[in-house]
Amino acid sequence: MSNQNKTAHSIDNLYDSTELITQEVLMRYEQTPDPRLREIMLSLIKHIHGFAKEVKLTSKEWLFAMQYLEESGKWCSPGRNEFMIFSDALGLSMLTVTQDYPKPAHATEATLVGPFLLENAPEFAMGADISAGAAGTPMYAKGKILDIHGKPIPNVTIDVWHSDDRGLYDVQDDFDSNGTWARAVLKTDSSGEYHFWSVLPVDYPIPQDGTAIEMIKATSGRTMRPAHLHFRIQCDGHKPLVTHIFDKNSANLNNDAVFGVRPSLIADFIHHPKGMAPDGKNMERDFYTLNYDFILP
Ligand code: BEZ
Ligand code: FE
Repeated sequence: MSNQNKTAHSIDNLYDSTELITQEVLMRYEQTPDPRLREIMLSLIKHIHGFAKEVKLTSKEWLFAMQYLEESGKWCSPGRNEFMIFSDALGLSMLTVTQDYPKPAHATEATLVGPFLLENAPEFAMGADISAGAAGTPMYAKGKILDIHGKPIPNVTIDVWHSDDRGLYDVQDDFDSNGTWARAVLKTDSSGEYHFWSVLPVDYPIPQDGTAIEMIKATSGRTMRPAHLHFRIQCDGHKPLVTHIFDKNSANLNNDAVFGVRPSLIADFIHHPKGMAPDGKNMERDFYTLNYDFILP
């Protein structure tokens, strides 16, 4: 008999014992050619079978879960990944970031990407207003992208995206007809400096539609995220950095629904009365400024 067709147990008694089923499944997946995939699959099978045995999962509960996953898939589209929200709310995203992202002393800490990253966002000129009509108080953000020796890193691609003052993202706002707002790709030059105008982000709840919010409401009840800007910073020679900058004045820094806050990522969004902004623009209403340097490992 070829290895491929080998079974540990006769099919006559295979379904008599949950232990025999687990052993039989493991034996089949031990034949996975790729060593890393084999390691992941064998561990996944052991844990998922162990979980089902521990809680004595019923067929009714299993069917509910399968239908719930089907429903979750319907909420996914470019810019909205419902499964990511489950991963975030269950702490899996931050656990993975924490164990996978190298953090030499002084480098900027990474945090989760969240469900609203859009690949190929529109590119704006450095210094532009990226709000594209988003509602909120004007905010001017600037800083540098540096290496751990304090040297500016040239030619960096920055994705930035954030909420408006309703706590919504463009992808939650009839995105197909309204297009993107408060979202941009910016490219630095040899100075490594970035700066842009947008609007001040606010605290917001996990999307109130979809399936993930139902799970959160039925369990931890923690639905809020503290106000933040998302950044993804990419360039040659460095691992991409995905992170947030959180507003020091947020009421939810200790209550993040998705465990993403790191003290080093909390910054001062400084309030200014109307007048001259740091880039020389004359502001006819009050505004905020943020100054934050990113240090790449
Ligand atoms: C966000 O930061 O955009 C986000 C993260 C997790 C769930 C929902 C939104
Ligand atoms: Fe966010």
